Amino acid sequence: MQHKTPLVQAIQAYLAKGRNRQHMPGHKGQAQANPLFAHWGDLAAWDLTEAEGLDDLHAPDGPIRQAAELLAQAVGARQAYLLVNGASVGILAAILAATAQSPDCAILLPRNAHRACWSGLALADCRPVWLPVEYDRPTGLPLGLTPAQLQQAAAQTPAAKAAFFVYPSYYGVCVQLPELLAICRQYELISIVDEAHGAHLPFTAPKLAAARLGADLVIDSWHKSMGSLGQTAVLLTNGQADLQPERWLTMLQTSSPSYPLLASLDAARADWCAKQAERRQALAQERELLTEALQKCQVLQILQPTELPDGFGYDETKALLHSAAGHSGWQLAQALRQAGLEPEFADWRWVLLLLSFADCQQPGGLPALSKALQQADAVLQQTPAQPVQLPMDSLPLPRQQLTPAEAMRQPVRMLPLAQTAGQVAAGLLTPYPPGIPWLGPGELIEPWLIEAAETLLQAGGRLQGLTDGCLPVLA
Ligand SMILES: Cc1ncc(COP(=O)(O)O)c(C=O)c1O
Repeated sequence: MQHKTPLVQAIQAYLAKGRNRQHMPGHKGQAQANPLFAHWGDLAAWDLTEAEGLDDLHAPDGPIRQAAELLAQAVGARQAYLLVNGASVGILAAILAATAQSPDCAILLPRNAHRACWSGLALADCRPVWLPVEYDRPTGLPLGLTPAQLQQAAAQTPAAKAAFFVYPSYYGVCVQLPELLAICRQYELISIVDEAHGAHLPFTAPKLAAARLGADLVIDSWHKSMGSLGQTAVLLTNGQADLQPERWLTMLQTSSPSYPLLASLDAARADWCAKQAERRQALAQERELLTEALQKCQVLQILQPTELPDGFGYDETKALLHSAAGHSGWQLAQALRQAGLEPEFADWRWVLLLLSFADCQQPGGLPALSKALQQADAVLQQTPAQPVQLPMDSLPLPRQQLTPAEAMRQPVRMLPLAQTAGQVAAGLLTPYPPGIPWLGPGELIEPWLIEAAETLLQAGGRLQGLTDGCLPVLA
């Protein structure tokens, strides 16, 4: 069955009818209607709406439903919901679905959760109990939540209704999900797994995929590693809890979902099913080549999964590089760019490359990658290191004065960052990349946070949430 692509076929059948399109989108499928369509082949024709035979994302009973069923079957979930607003909308719907029927409940979350969690918390009006993530002491790499931490937090928080996990993290680190899920079952917590960076796991390492491990709600960002279009993602449930996330998705997703986005999920799923073994091999080959190339480098080093402390794994689609000479991640990124390579992200210490089956499909792609790494290394050998010290691993968590929902309902004023000590934050303050907030609405701004933010800015980092150096605080 997995060779079938019902949604792609429904669109093709619709196009074959040659209908005069008196419906949205307004370009009417005409390539001339937008100069960009010239670059995009048939995209104008494929950009459709809920025309006859094309089903309805919000009440699917045709090809969209079949596409979702095939996807669920392929990844070992009971149900799959196709998303056109990224994993972000899946996270909002999951938090709402898990907590909406328990007013005033708490939810346990690791502090390295994506910013979309904050939106979910504000909408669901629940109380976050943030758990500090473990760091790798020698390298300062944020690792994740340990089962011991979760066990303790669950025991101390009887109001907790759900627990949220990031798996793998943006840096590629995997927590011990089977153990964490077992604790959720012990305390009757609904488990939500942000598997945005692990959409490939059901295909490359099925035994490690969150849905197969029994997580209640799983969010996979397919556009990140599966070859579907930007913004595409899926929300999976495994049927153990009747959470009905569709009730929330229909409120949160657009009423005009893009058919090219949806069809790209359908096609990507069929393609992965057909080429699973080949793609696994391609990823292994890329990692091997990368390791070999980096062995020849003097400055650039790759984090080896074996270097991580016990209890943490590493995802094979990520390559986390650092400098043996103490260069910042931004310096590494600069050198890589000079060598023609654009990394996924760089922070003060690390630079991350995103490996993909697609790298192997590109003729000459792997040798070019190897060459670029060696060129960047040569540049770095001539570049004095400007290390950035940000002691994030030893900073406390901000104190919560109001819940995110309470804070979002308060009036706001803007204050220069340096004058915000003692104020309550009205929004997020997020180093970007990697996009993991340091501060959120309702949290007390303490001097240590201002200092860390100033250090980051002085070193050349970016902080989302500041406007002309000012931070929104509660009035
Ligand atoms: C851990 C994590 N979760 C969720 C998201 C949101 O994914 P999307 O961009 O598909 O909305 C991201 C985005 O990078 C992420 O890093």
